[in-house]
Amino acid sequence: MCVMQIRSLAVVKILAVVPLLLLLLHVQSACAHGSKYDSTPNIYPSLLGGRNPTDTDWNLAYIKAREFVSQLTLLEKVNLTTGTGWQMGPCVGNTGSVPRLNFSAICLQDGPLGIRFTDLNSAFPAGIATGATFNKNLMYQRGNALGLENKAKGINVALAPCIGPIGRAAEAGRNWEGFGADPYLQGIAGAETVRGIQDAGVIATAKHYLLNEQEHFRQYAEWVGFGFDDLKEPYSANADDRVLREIYVWPFAEAVRAGVGSVMCSYNQANQSQACQNSYLLNKVLKDELGFQGFVMSDWLGQRSGVASALAGMDMTMPGDGIAWADGVSLYGPNLTLAVMNGSVPTWRLDDMVTRIMAAYFKVGQDPSTYPEPNFSSWTLDTKGDYFPSIDDSPYGVVNQHVDARSSVSSQVTRQIALESVVLLKNENEVLPLADFKKLAVVGSAAGPFSGGPNGCENRDCNNGTLATGWGSGSVNFPYMITPVEVINYRAAMSGFQVDYLLEDYDHTAASTYASAADVAIVFVSSDSGEGFVDVEGNLGDRNNLKLWHGGDELIKAVAAVNSKTVVVVEAVGAVDMEEWIEHENVTAVLYSLVPGQDIGFGLADVIFGAYNPSGRLPFTIAKDKDDYPASVVYNVTSPVPQINFTEGLYVDYRHFDKQEITPRFEFGFGMSYTNFTFSNFTVTVDEEADTGEYPTAPEAYLAPVFYNGTNSSLPDKSDVEYPKNFRKFENFVYPYLTASEAKKIEYDADAYPYPDDYSETQPDEPSPAGGASGGNPALFDNLVSVTAVITNTGTLDGAEVAQVYLSYPSDAEVEFPVKALRGFEKVELQAGQSYEVTFYLTRKDLSYYEVETGEWRIPRGEFEVLVGRSSRKHQVAGSFTLE
Ligand SMILES: *[C@@H]1O[C@H](CO)[C@@H](O)[C@H](O)[C@H]1NC(C)=O
Ligand SMILES: *[C@@H]1O[C@H](CO)[C@@H](O)[C@H](O)[C@H]1NC(C)=O
Ligand SMILES: *[C@@H]1O[C@H](CO)[C@@H](O)[C@H](O)[C@H]1NC(C)=O
Ligand SMILES: *[C@@H]1O[C@H](CO)[C@@H](O)[C@H](O)[C@H]1NC(C)=O
Ligand SMILES: *[C@@H]1O[C@H](CO)[C@@H](O)[C@H](O)[C@H]1NC(C)=O
Ligand SMILES: *[C@@H]1O[C@H](CO)[C@@H](O)[C@H](O)[C@H]1NC(C)=O
Ligand SMILES: *[C@@H]1O[C@H](CO)[C@@H](O)[C@H](O)[C@H]1NC(C)=O
Ligand SMILES: *[C@@H]1O[C@H](CO)[C@@H](O)[C@H](O)[C@H]1NC(C)=O
Ligand SMILES: *[C@@H]1O[C@H](CO)[C@@H](O)[C@H](O)[C@H]1NC(C)=O
Ligand SMILES: *[C@@H]1O[C@H](CO)[C@@H](O)[C@H](O)[C@H]1NC(C)=O
Repeated sequence: MCVMQIRSLAVVKILAVVPLLLLLLHVQSACAHGSKYDSTPNIYPSLLGGRNPTDTDWNLAYIKAREFVSQLTLLEKVNLTTGTGWQMGPCVGNTGSVPRLNFSAICLQDGPLGIRFTDLNSAFPAGIATGATFNKNLMYQRGNALGLENKAKGINVALAPCIGPIGRAAEAGRNWEGFGADPYLQGIAGAETVRGIQDAGVIATAKHYLLNEQEHFRQYAEWVGFGFDDLKEPYSANADDRVLREIYVWPFAEAVRAGVGSVMCSYNQANQSQACQNSYLLNKVLKDELGFQGFVMSDWLGQRSGVASALAGMDMTMPGDGIAWADGVSLYGPNLTLAVMNGSVPTWRLDDMVTRIMAAYFKVGQDPSTYPEPNFSSWTLDTKGDYFPSIDDSPYGVVNQHVDARSSVSSQVTRQIALESVVLLKNENEVLPLADFKKLAVVGSAAGPFSGGPNGCENRDCNNGTLATGWGSGSVNFPYMITPVEVINYRAAMSGFQVDYLLEDYDHTAASTYASAADVAIVFVSSDSGEGFVDVEGNLGDRNNLKLWHGGDELIKAVAAVNSKTVVVVEAVGAVDMEEWIEHENVTAVLYSLVPGQDIGFGLADVIFGAYNPSGRLPFTIAKDKDDYPASVVYNVTSPVPQINFTEGLYVDYRHFDKQEITPRFEFGFGMSYTNFTFSNFTVTVDEEADTGEYPTAPEAYLAPVFYNGTNSSLPDKSDVEYPKNFRKFENFVYPYLTASEAKKIEYDADAYPYPDDYSETQPDEPSPAGGASGGNPALFDNLVSVTAVITNTGTLDGAEVAQVYLSYPSDAEVEFPVKALRGFEKVELQAGQSYEVTFYLTRKDLSYYEVETGEWRIPRGEFEVLVGRSSRKHQVAGSFTLE
């Protein structure tokens, strides 16, 4: 197929205000030369929201939204689609307001593990720690606590959860913000988080859409700043249609099914088109196939065109500035006003952008007359400060009311995840939980505090002391941080053992002295990563490698050389290379801590001393060799537009190790307990009533599109879009208005814009076969197979098991499948000796693959095998079923 594509505007820094051709983009011919990675098809028009026949909650919200939007003028509509600019309001993102209707600016705030840039907030466990709990209820509770805190601070839209990156490359800087290297796990955790946040009345944001699997070269300007002078555009991540659906879009589908109000498009290009103007990803996959009813916002400066983004389905620009921070030049704002006035962007598209925003607002129950205003400033922690700190004429006053957003819900969930996320990887001779010891040695800087405090580095961009978070926009100010050594010390005081500690990594002499004199030595080591805008110890967001930081391997070996009961605690954002010491005879136990936030020390100490029986499971694979992984970060630019081909396809994380028959050090889903569990009494039952045909029934037709045909749907006079007389304009603030001379020059010509090939304004009557409701065709979520297993705690301690279900597909199917895929998990708490029967349901989608030729999810025929057990490698055949 030969298609046209809209390319990044990064290189095309055009345009003064020339009517019509103004914003745009560079439409470039790119005929596919037989390669699946060369281009993205054009899919238009952008679907109007409110058309899914069965989405009752959304449809009720659309009624309210339409009523509200029908009162708005063109300028007011533009105001709600556009941020006022970086630092032009209290939140990291602030839309314009509608003063005439007393409608305040919409406040958008980072991030996925708490509220960034404020005080009296929780530092929740990161996504990766939450994923490691495999506890759905905790995932929900954490989302809910996060939502309640956001509401208490007056935030309308929480920029959470992060469900991409998924962790294609183990070193990728932001994997820890998400929940683990498997789409099913990411999907469940993301959806529970969305429900939790939105049940608290706050709009959740699923991000980053899509294929944003590494930090290096995700943005153009940022990386030129790091010395990559030849870079011209952000990387294009290239994945084929099946991989896209089955791996990277999957978690977003779950978030949409959970009703997520917004989706953030990412910085990178996907299949040669910027994610924020990729009509295939936004108009087709998100709004049609996933039936998404909320709004798409850009990542901060992720937008690269004006008209093209609007037509491709991007509904809101953040932070309002377009190409550069705080310069007041927007790709929407006045440019959108102009583009609608001159006919380049049809009025229905602007109406839909605003209606989607307001539908999300009403869907979560926000009400302009009761919802709290932001009571904090992202730009200072002082009580008084500038409202708009980057400009000279900023108003000044009280900007922080220091509202304590925390509640008992937050503290309980944070503490519980700190416990349940600790993964026990090795425990020879049952050295843990510690018993019968008199003297303990604690070694390593990661055991204790940093002299600068938990907030001692901006954006947590250092790895000093205990590692409880990664760095970047996904980090927050800690209200406190309990380090492991503090709890160990306190326990020593209470129970009478002796503890010596060395909060230092390179003094091996002192480490040996303490360790050789102790009954047990605990070594704390770490590995950190974060967002690509900062360099920490030479790591530009992504980790340079999977080695421990600060000489961790050497420190462990120095201690293990002299103490036969050495316990290693790894504090990490993801997998690390353990090969130098994991088989050392004296390394008797290994615990893994995955940036669990403020209570990290409580969680680790309770596991070490047996107050809590560990129940965490690895949400990724730890390899023996970094080359065993299917993919790695691309660190070096070889082209002005780096190409990252996802050639491993479906084989991400354990799917690759299974396919290549590589034995990992520790497999996905692995984690030990202080007790033992058995699985028995399996049943696998195909629901006889259910339709198990190859294809789902077609979704119902869309509801008829609703257009605004009141007064405001026609264009206002040119003079109505000018700045009001005597308007006090703040420098660099993004307003919707045009200057008088700009307004005067407007010429309406609906055909002047160089619309891409295949451009259409006709709303389709039918959804894609994969679509039709939030999350996709409702038939995809029919339960077709049930699986039961009895889990028994055969040990002597109470504990929790994570029962995992993996599905193997027919070996003679028409397409290739991974050896197995996670399709269910439940965490079950059992007293010693107790049994419990757990039930799992496999949906049509769980059984299907995405058939590229038809755009349908299709169930292959043949024999499926159901595996149930404790990890992706420790399981039993629970049964099989055959579909003919
Ligand atoms: C747009 O929003 C700005 C900032 O909140 C506000 O000052 C202005 O009055 C709004 N314009 C309109 C037309 O409502
Ligand atoms: C806006 O608020 C003011 C003051 O509370 C009130 O007098 C006015 O009626 C409100 N206007 C609308 C449109 O709600
Ligand atoms: C529209 O966007 C272009 C490209 O960023 C910019 O040069 C221009 O100043 C913008 N126009 C207005 C009115 O903001
Ligand atoms: C904290 O970390 C930074 C690097 O990220 C390093 O330069 C500094 O020396 C560290 N400070 C201490 C006290 O460890
Ligand atoms: C293990 O520790 C003991 C001291 O307890 C030491 O003698 C031995 O050499 C250590 N083993 C190794 C392989 O270092
Ligand atoms: C990038 O390339 C340069 C020059 O070829 C090399 O020195 C450097 O080690 C590479 N960086 C990484 C992280 O591989
Ligand atoms: C990516 O794939 C395209 C098309 O198959 C190929 O031409 C290109 O060389 C690949 N790029 C890299 C960096 O592997
Ligand atoms: C499991 O099966 C065995 C024998 O088939 C039966 O005795 C036992 O009650 C079953 N256990 C549970 C918990 O259902
Ligand atoms: C309402 O607006 C839509 C979109 O602008 C237009 O296609 C339609 O013809 C209008 N309907 C009426 C009755 O004016
Ligand atoms: C668990 O089972 C293993 C072997 O099956 C046994 O060695 C170990 O003692 C058991 N542990 C507990 C806590 O029951």
